[in-house]
Amino acid sequence: MNVTAIRRDFPILAQQVNGHPLAYLDNAASSQHPLQVLEAIQHYYTHDHANIHRGVHTLSHRATDLYEGARETVRAFINAGSLREIVFTRGTTEAINLVAFSFGQRLAPGDEILITTMEHHSNIVPWQLLCERSGAVLRVAPINDAGELLLDEFVQLLGPRTRLVSVAHVSNALGTVNPVKAIVAAARARGIPVLLDGAQAIAHGAVDVRELDCDFYAFSGHKMCGPTGTGVLYGREAILRDMPPWQGGGDMIRTVSFSGTTYNDLPYRLEAGTPHIAGAVGLAAAIRYLTAIGMANIAAWEAELLAYATAALAQIPEVKLIGTARHKAGLVSFNVDGIHPHDLGTVLDQQGVAIRAGHHCAMPVMERFGLAGTARASFAFYNTTGEIDQLVDAVRVAQRMFA
Ligand SMILES: Cc1ncc(COP(=O)(O)O)c(C=O)c1O
Repeated sequence: MNVTAIRRDFPILAQQVNGHPLAYLDNAASSQHPLQVLEAIQHYYTHDHANIHRGVHTLSHRATDLYEGARETVRAFINAGSLREIVFTRGTTEAINLVAFSFGQRLAPGDEILITTMEHHSNIVPWQLLCERSGAVLRVAPINDAGELLLDEFVQLLGPRTRLVSVAHVSNALGTVNPVKAIVAAARARGIPVLLDGAQAIAHGAVDVRELDCDFYAFSGHKMCGPTGTGVLYGREAILRDMPPWQGGGDMIRTVSFSGTTYNDLPYRLEAGTPHIAGAVGLAAAIRYLTAIGMANIAAWEAELLAYATAALAQIPEVKLIGTARHKAGLVSFNVDGIHPHDLGTVLDQQGVAIRAGHHCAMPVMERFGLAGTARASFAFYNTTGEIDQLVDAVRVAQRMFA
């Protein structure tokens, strides 16, 4: 993979921050956009913008073709069986809330939803709210000290009242890649649907929803070089078909009258109002960009970056890695003895190194490890080992400052 050539597509990376070359290592929070994505959005607004689906004029047809073309690009990217299974959302958070509000309507008091300790808040709070509305109960499967799901305990928590399993494909706080195929197999053997939160997986390796055999897969555009405010809920058609609308408005209806309203077909029934048309155009451009590089190449390079960073940080005895799962994605969560993660993040920024510090919207994980937070460096295919050297040098600068 030619990272030097790839970086030419990302002018934002070629800047100085606080007098140092920028080392952007906050990709788990949001990735950057190649020119190809920016140009696709600009071209759309410059030539093709109009509202979609209802228009009779040329621009509306063009915009509709682009929006529905983006749906096909997403479908092919995750190998879904049908366009009816691709629902555009504002992001992972909205995709999970959609399931909680729509699928969740069938839950009764005493029903159970099973998640894990390592979930992002957006895969916890929607279920807590659903439990408050429905009287359902949230169950949480534990993890070990390496940050791995305890699969046996997880399976034991699958009971006769479990109505849904919702699990991160990859943990944003620890980097753990969950054994999602085993999770799906165990749940499906008991007739329980599974939602996979793919926010941290989608840009880092090939995702095939039919091979995963999951019922729902949620992800965000802005973590895969696409625009903020875009995302996708994949839903198995057989399950989406029975899901009631969750938001009312334009586009999701077939007919409206004061004596009763009928609803549109999938996926439109679950997409109320004018969507983020330019966002979908940008997301499709991002998918084309990632696909041209090759998801397998991206996964291989990020695995090298992870190995390099893990070895480099291990050279500093005061660094403690949080999350040492055998199967990890390209991020390192760590603490440095005697330095608060926020102070570390600030000093690193002074050295041009952008990382995230805090609880990473996963407070229960922090609680599990007895920590207020961690520093997290997260990698994308455009990162270099030189940037990891810059990170390690900056950690040493912080250590000298706080000595
Ligand atoms: C694992 C995981 N799930 C869900 C989300 C929420 O994504 P968004 O804020 O794009 O909706 C994130 C974002 O960091 C995440 O890392």
